[in-house]
Amino acid sequence: MESNKTKILKILRNTDGYLSGQELCEQLGISRTAVWKYMKQLKEEGYEIQSVQNKGYCLMEVPDVLGESEIKSRMETQWVGQRVYFYEEIDSTNTQAKRLAEEDAPSGTLVVSDCQVKGKGRRGRVWTSPKGEAIYMTILLRPQIRPDRASMVTLVMGLSVVQAIRNVLGLETSIKWPNDVVLNRKKLVGILTEMSAQMDYIEYLVIGTGINANMTAFSEELKDKATSLRMEMGRPVNRAALIAESMKCFEKNYEIFEKTQDLSGLMEDYQAVLANLNQPVRVLEPGHEYSGIARGINERGELLVEREDGTVTAVYSGEVSVRGLYSYV
Ligand code: BTN
Repeated sequence: MESNKTKILKILRNTDGYLSGQELCEQLGISRTAVWKYMKQLKEEGYEIQSVQNKGYCLMEVPDVLGESEIKSRMETQWVGQRVYFYEEIDSTNTQAKRLAEEDAPSGTLVVSDCQVKGKGRRGRVWTSPKGEAIYMTILLRPQIRPDRASMVTLVMGLSVVQAIRNVLGLETSIKWPNDVVLNRKKLVGILTEMSAQMDYIEYLVIGTGINANMTAFSEELKDKATSLRMEMGRPVNRAALIAESMKCFEKNYEIFEKTQDLSGLMEDYQAVLANLNQPVRVLEPGHEYSGIARGINERGELLVEREDGTVTAVYSGEVSVRGLYSYV
């Protein structure tokens, strides 16, 4: 159920100029006093809403406010991100999504936080998560697919974020296989998928995405490897718009993936943005290293690496960590 605050934001955003209080009352079926109260709350949350006598309300420049109403009012999906949990601060949105999964939250639930105090990267690394500057979000999914296919969903998310950035900002980014979104050879987005599974059955997946949105600088250690949308575009970006568009793209792509339970329907789009395509790569496998040229992916999302002798090896990302129930505690 959409809250009245979410509805008001949606209506005001879609109104050119002013909308009278009377009209808002009628559209929402609430009293003038109630409208006034919601407006007051929204202003307190940082929205610049002008109220002019005899004209009504007008939403001026929307600041980069992140909150449940702001995110929900932009959501154009059927099931992904229809339930949103927003936190000012959380340990990790992935961890929180797993908690919610254990409490039977439905597939498609979205967790967003303005800040993470225990942000997780891949391979046990820390994902630095300062407040108010980036996007930290996790989707909970309960897919009817075999556990060995879970890593493909991470690729689906990577592709969706690239498309969302393109649709919202008109910026072309690419993917460093399997799922880092990069721009000018620097990392912009990281994705961490975790799952709870039995041998042949996925209990749930949590797909966590960190987007460097409005950072203006990175630490000495990261500054050569990471960048942000703001640093690349020279202006801040609206995080809620990017979140909603990512959900829209993900829902569409996921439904294509679900039909075949592989990437055959998305390979072309993915390959079109693959930074490694026809580039030399070095494959580091435990106890085994080799080089070759990346020739794209197959329908399982494996990277096809052509070796010097002409043979092609399909490289599995192997980046999904399998966790048992409650193992995150
Ligand atoms: C990587 O190492 O590239 C993956 C980084 C994933 C970071 C995101 S931020 C939202 C979600 N919550 C986490 O703790 N990690 C992921």
